[in-house]
Amino acid sequence: MAEYDKDKQAKEYYLDTPINTYGFFLKGAHSLDWGMKNRLSRIFRPDTGKTVMLAIDHGYFQGPTTGLERPDVNIVPLMPYADAIMLTRGILRTTVPPSLTKAVVMRCSGGPSILKELSDEELAVDIEDAIRMNVAAITLQIFIGGEYETRSIHNMTRLVDMGLRYGIPTMAVTAVGKDMVRDAKYFRLACRMAAELGAQIVKTYYVPEDFDTIIASCPVPIVMAGGKKLPEFEALTMSWNAINEGASGVDMGRNIFQSDYPVAMMKAVNKVVHEHLDPQQAFDYFNSIKAEG
Ligand code: R5P
Repeated sequence: MAEYDKDKQAKEYYLDTPINTYGFFLKGAHSLDWGMKNRLSRIFRPDTGKTVMLAIDHGYFQGPTTGLERPDVNIVPLMPYADAIMLTRGILRTTVPPSLTKAVVMRCSGGPSILKELSDEELAVDIEDAIRMNVAAITLQIFIGGEYETRSIHNMTRLVDMGLRYGIPTMAVTAVGKDMVRDAKYFRLACRMAAELGAQIVKTYYVPEDFDTIIASCPVPIVMAGGKKLPEFEALTMSWNAINEGASGVDMGRNIFQSDYPVAMMKAVNKVVHEHLDPQQAFDYFNSIKAEG
């Protein structure tokens, strides 16, 4: 029995070695609980501190948008190249093989279609269902300056509270609505509000001027949203700029799945985010592998 083992000399207590306190690699996350940190480590690679997230949740308000008509055919083959996938529970359960071990970032808001006021959202997933699906994070839009701004923020704070109860991080997406100005001043406001009110991750758009000030004034990791489809070189340049200015990753949809070579684009974006290839190197790499299909 271990209790009778009284011979201290036979054991090794490493008395000169302080116990490791394991600092955490993501900004703003050092005070979070173990489960929350573990889930964040499934989204953000601990070796690079960054993530390549594949966003395919557009159907929740846009229907079968271009490139997402048949996610089983076009999208599932891209998933092995992502660190995390952002999607709805409908597509997860109907289309994604449960054997996939990538981090799931679950879309938890919804309501209006593109035919209506987009900020008129409600929470649309119970926390129990998110747990059932073994998600790594929960996510929703906030509409700063939008018609239903306050409700979208209240949706977020409720989701954050539910996530904290079970150790699940919340990612707030700074939606811009149809007519909003997208500049650094606006995104500094939106991102800071999201973090102040509890979001553990913020997703926002890239702006060419002063993006680094959005990053600096937000105390939690920011991932860059892709936006509308650009030529591949431009999309890789935007990704590189965002990472270079301090983003903790990208969460891209159309610039991946609307490319003629989506697997090559996934791999090239990975090179930018995790290996810091510059835009020309990444574009050359993209061109060299696109023939693979
Ligand atoms: C939009 O409402 C969704 O949250 C998308 O996931 C997001 O906009 C990212 O997709 P994309 O890169 O196509 O803009």
